[in-house]
Amino acid sequence: MQESFSLVIFGATGNLAQLKLIPALYDLAEANLLPEKVSIVGIGRKELSDEEFRQYSNDVLHKPNRHHQHPIKEEVAEKLLEKMHYVSGDIGKKELYEKLDEKLKEDKSCSNRMFYLATYPELYPTVFNHLEETGLNSQKCGFVRVIIEKPIGSDLDSAKKLNQLLAEYYAEDQIYRLDHYLGRETLQNILSFRFANNLFEPMINKDHVDHIQITAAEDFGIGMRGGYYDSVGALKDVGQNHILQMIALATMEAPTSFTNQDVTDKRIKLLKELAPEMDRLVFAQYEGYLNERSVNPDSNNDTFFAFRTHINNKRFEGVPIYVRAGKALKRTVTEITIVFKKDSQHLFSHLNGGKEANMLIYRIQPNEGIVLKFSSKTPGPDFKLQDEYMQYCYRQTAVSLPDPYLRLLVDALRGDQTFFVDAEEVEAQWKFIDPLIAARSKQKLVSYKAGSFGPEEANQIIEADGRKWIEPSVSFCSF
Ligand code: BG6
Repeated sequence: MQESFSLVIFGATGNLAQLKLIPALYDLAEANLLPEKVSIVGIGRKELSDEEFRQYSNDVLHKPNRHHQHPIKEEVAEKLLEKMHYVSGDIGKKELYEKLDEKLKEDKSCSNRMFYLATYPELYPTVFNHLEETGLNSQKCGFVRVIIEKPIGSDLDSAKKLNQLLAEYYAEDQIYRLDHYLGRETLQNILSFRFANNLFEPMINKDHVDHIQITAAEDFGIGMRGGYYDSVGALKDVGQNHILQMIALATMEAPTSFTNQDVTDKRIKLLKELAPEMDRLVFAQYEGYLNERSVNPDSNNDTFFAFRTHINNKRFEGVPIYVRAGKALKRTVTEITIVFKKDSQHLFSHLNGGKEANMLIYRIQPNEGIVLKFSSKTPGPDFKLQDEYMQYCYRQTAVSLPDPYLRLLVDALRGDQTFFVDAEEVEAQWKFIDPLIAARSKQKLVSYKAGSFGPEEANQIIEADGRKWIEPSVSFCSF
């Protein structure tokens, strides 16, 4: 196996590279996780020399970035930038790939290669084809891997086609379909919380769980992403991927071993058991969306959705899962709450607070942690109950949370696909989402005020069952 490694980023001056990839590469460099003999080659239409690309990347690192807030150590940045190169040209033309081949040979004639397609999916066929034609896909002297990001297709049919296309050029173990939520520490920790402890897992089933709810709220609108966002909408943008992964990790069966095959199989099994409910579904758009840049003034696009679903297996029979997600909401917060059944007969059920449900909350972001809500005696002469919270907060630990892109780039380098999505999995996700999307065209798009937690109709989805959305607490892990 080659020691030298080349990372080629298609779309190196685009949004994804700026916000996530270049900062993640910096983090890898700072953590000493990049191979010693690495070269990073950016590809883009913009005419830039190597030197200009380095300057550009340096500027990116020093720009304010909500995803990357820690200070940049100049000596680390400098060492990283030395390893960066650039090839400009038209992704649709063979010349670019010949130039890329030359550039890769400049540094070393042979290396492991990873192609990161941070570019429009419409360009994938031409990229794969040219890489093949110019011999850049050849694994003669090192591995070749490709990373592609969501959206993997825009429905089941197109996802299948894309999977077929990928399979024409690469084996499944060369394909890394990235959903950055799978790289989140807080999501991966759901697996350890559930399967490394014997305390909680016996309770996560229909005998004890009343329902599960997920809120994934963002307090900002679509910003400069109107062109992309207006063609997908909230359900495809985050529902088909991030939300389904959260449901899968919180409810899947224990894998037989901690291997890619077993963990992925259990996620897929769960996704296949998840049932879309077309009569408990709301799509909404925030007021003012139609005035956003690059948005069609008559757009019917959803910026918010809420739905109820359930899992068709014995373990979760009759346990509803409520989901709401959207943009321009009251706060940015993502959490999964497992609400336990109340025992109406217990010793203190007659007391005020004696009928409160216990809850297990996975706080995905911000103020990341795991929280258990329970009833406790109020200190004092009388017997009264109050809600208390046991909290595990990442902030209490000395280690800061690694960015999901850092985690996943390391995995891809190591050849570990456990937290990547495979062909069958992405198809299972679309099988769940497609009927909901089909229902979208048949129902009225409602509107909601920016700064709220969504429209009244979303409340009805859960209130019709005598339950309520839990407003994520501002005080969890907020010290
Ligand atoms: C992306 C979506 O996949 O995930 C964005 O395209 C969304 O619209 C983002 O804002 C949320 O990710 P994070 O890591 O900021 O919670």
